[in-house]
Amino acid sequence: MSRLIIEGGKPLKGSVEISGAKNSALAIIVAAALATEGESVLENIPHGSDVGTVCEILRDLGAEVWFDDDNKLHIRGQNLYKHQASYDLVRKMRASFYSAGLLLARLGKAEVPLPGGCAIGSRPVDFHIKGFTQMGAEVAIEHGYMKAKAENLKGAQIYVNRASVGTTINLMIAASLAEGTTILENAAKEPEVVDVAIFLNGMGARVRGAGTEVIRIEGVDKLRGIEYSIIPDRIEAGTFLFAAAITGGDVLLESVVAEHLRVPIVKLEEAGVIITRGDNNLRVQAPNRLKPVDVETMPYPGFPTDLQQPLVAAMCLADGTSVVRETIFDRFRYVDELRRMGADIKTDQGTAIIRGVPSLTSAPVEITDLRAGAALAIAGLAAEGRTELNGVEILERGYEFFADKLRQLGAKVYKEDSNIDDRRKVAIK
Ligand code: EPZ
Repeated sequence: MSRLIIEGGKPLKGSVEISGAKNSALAIIVAAALATEGESVLENIPHGSDVGTVCEILRDLGAEVWFDDDNKLHIRGQNLYKHQASYDLVRKMRASFYSAGLLLARLGKAEVPLPGGCAIGSRPVDFHIKGFTQMGAEVAIEHGYMKAKAENLKGAQIYVNRASVGTTINLMIAASLAEGTTILENAAKEPEVVDVAIFLNGMGARVRGAGTEVIRIEGVDKLRGIEYSIIPDRIEAGTFLFAAAITGGDVLLESVVAEHLRVPIVKLEEAGVIITRGDNNLRVQAPNRLKPVDVETMPYPGFPTDLQQPLVAAMCLADGTSVVRETIFDRFRYVDELRRMGADIKTDQGTAIIRGVPSLTSAPVEITDLRAGAALAIAGLAAEGRTELNGVEILERGYEFFADKLRQLGAKVYKEDSNIDDRRKVAIK
């Protein structure tokens, strides 16, 4: 295990380039293996261990997947032959359940381990399974696996419970090669869903309505590989917005789609931050002290659950009390770690009440999940002294060059390899 050391107290200043969206990339990499002609070449794929895991899963199933010297990811799915996904790979990451949609569509059968619970609570896949069943698959749950088969998936009218992002994407993948038309009602509207739909259409699929509540997918016989560039990561961008905000910084975020961050931007403006929208960029200028804000997480276009933790971290130093309600996941475990840094937070069921304190103090803290890691880093950037974030591998699942980007903005951040006795400092500047 490695740790990230942050010596806080410096306003972030300068500019930073936002990477490609992790959650789009994970889905698009799997969807690329639907093609039986040509190869897909994907640009703007973020480096992170989750992306590495999904590539491993595809290779294990028989697809050819490799990065070229220009960091473009090549995927050829023609030789996909194995319908059993590896437990050791799938258990690392929930998004690997997209392989179920892929395998059903391509091979007519799929055996995929059920993802377990994780640090953000129980995360079932019952909505995905209900959808596959409605499309004619016979599904059995045996020995921790979902075993599904369908000679030919058939188009169906499916109501997507809770506008689930993963279910919408998995069913779009499965329906692209199904017989007939699938209609997804109450579909997720997240930008990542739209990105996957645009990619699928580029490959020859017929997906209409992505970004609205009703998506129609007319199945086609085959798909072919294409070149495609992934959208910028709105959650990474939002994380840097909150990091700049808590430190009283002045930061230019490059390669951002401001539209994807409409509600977080409104909330930051309410907190007293000045945000200027440019062409593909956002400038954030923060006051010395933020004002408190109340927020409820909601499916897109509402405030994203993946920015709830960065927001709570920023509100720890606000001038007053903020109330944050989490409606998507059980996602407040990390507040115990913020409390160890001096934050005043009470949680009750899905609500956190954050009383702003004048300062946070450094402490060794434990990263429990990806976005919790971002929140603790944000708190560490504003805390007095040396904050030690343990379990940085979790942060590196989804943030590309996190420490480097913060250093570029003037933060004192470095990584220590805690396996090495003398705690050799990695990449210290
Ligand atoms: C995606 O997860 C993202 N992951 C999550 O990002 C994100 O927090 C979430 O969408 C919400 O925006 C990826 O894209 C890889 P859901 P997903 O299905 O698809 C319940 C991050 O940090 N549900 O929209 O798994 C579920 O428990 C991650 O980058 C069922 O009950 O989320 C939740 O309460 C974390 N049964 C709600 O629906 C199901 O079969 C919405 O979840 C599916 C979901």
